[in-house]
Amino acid sequence: MDGPHVSVLLAEVMEALEPAPGKLIVDGTFGAGGYARAFANAGAKVTAFDRDPSAARFAEGLDVRLIEARFSQMAEVLGEGVADGVALDLGVSSMQLDEAERGFSFMRDGPLDMRMGADGPTAADLVNTAEQAELARIFWLYGEEKKSRRIAAALVRRRAEQPFERTLDLAEAVERAVGGRKGAKVHPATRVFQALRIAVNEELAELEAGLEAAEKVLKAGGRLAVVTFHSLEDRIVKAFLTERSGRMPGASRHAPPQAQGPEPTFVLLFNGHRSPGEAEIAANPRARSAKLRAAVRTEAPEWRAAA
Ligand SMILES: C[S@@+](CC[C@H](N)C(=O)[O-])C[C@H]1O[C@@H](n2cnc3c(N)ncnc32)[C@H](O)[C@@H]1O
Repeated sequence: MDGPHVSVLLAEVMEALEPAPGKLIVDGTFGAGGYARAFANAGAKVTAFDRDPSAARFAEGLDVRLIEARFSQMAEVLGEGVADGVALDLGVSSMQLDEAERGFSFMRDGPLDMRMGADGPTAADLVNTAEQAELARIFWLYGEEKKSRRIAAALVRRRAEQPFERTLDLAEAVERAVGGRKGAKVHPATRVFQALRIAVNEELAELEAGLEAAEKVLKAGGRLAVVTFHSLEDRIVKAFLTERSGRMPGASRHAPPQAQGPEPTFVLLFNGHRSPGEAEIAANPRARSAKLRAAVRTEAPEWRAAA
């Protein structure tokens, strides 16, 4: 059996959020509770969210309130201006990846599911019913898969004879569609599996809504820390913080400040992102692509959704 999830960039997230007695820290992605435990051990009050009901077993014995919900719902659940810190550590946990029955892995045979939560359509539903152009769009946008159209066409041909039900069956079909492995370092189905996972869980829309929810939930002086694992996620976090901190993308640093537009709701805690050090990557290969961005909430009112 594989070990439990090892937290990524934990020391950096602790430094960014400064959990302490008297503070309320919201952990939007509880997982195995690695972050939440560290926040609680530092004396903070911790409220955590995870959309996966199976995360609850890791909350046993922890002084943490765990809510089974999406992190985009945190403002509705907790109210506005209540939190001193919000952490988001995106993506799937090692437990989700390692359990064949969850259907996330192209290396372990299981039902083609990929849902983090307990509801909504599965990856099999998507692969067996989406139009060919829609599948190609998903593989291209969410997997950055160059052979997206060729793969989509092959899957649509194959499902007409026999629908997809198992992960390895899909992985083999993708491998055949791209003409085998050809010495590639990563499995040819890696990008298709990533793309399906993002689509099934609506991960990018969730992230955008989650950042807006964090803007509501944080009090002035409260801090936001977000750990991403691929460029699609990081791009969204970077764009949100660039905009909300009043740095319009592409604007010259010598240009006068924006005369119009809402007041910035965040100040960056540091420029750019923090990455794991070599020691962390050597100990935990999953940390390799991780990036932390962090910011402090100002007193300005939250931005309303664009009309
Ligand atoms: C990388 S793990 C978090 C690990 C955790 N920081 C730790 O140290 O153990 C990500 C977790 O977030 C959950 N998750 C992902 N997207 C979510 C969302 N939109 N709302 C709530 N939970 C989500 C997943 O189910 C998974 O358990």
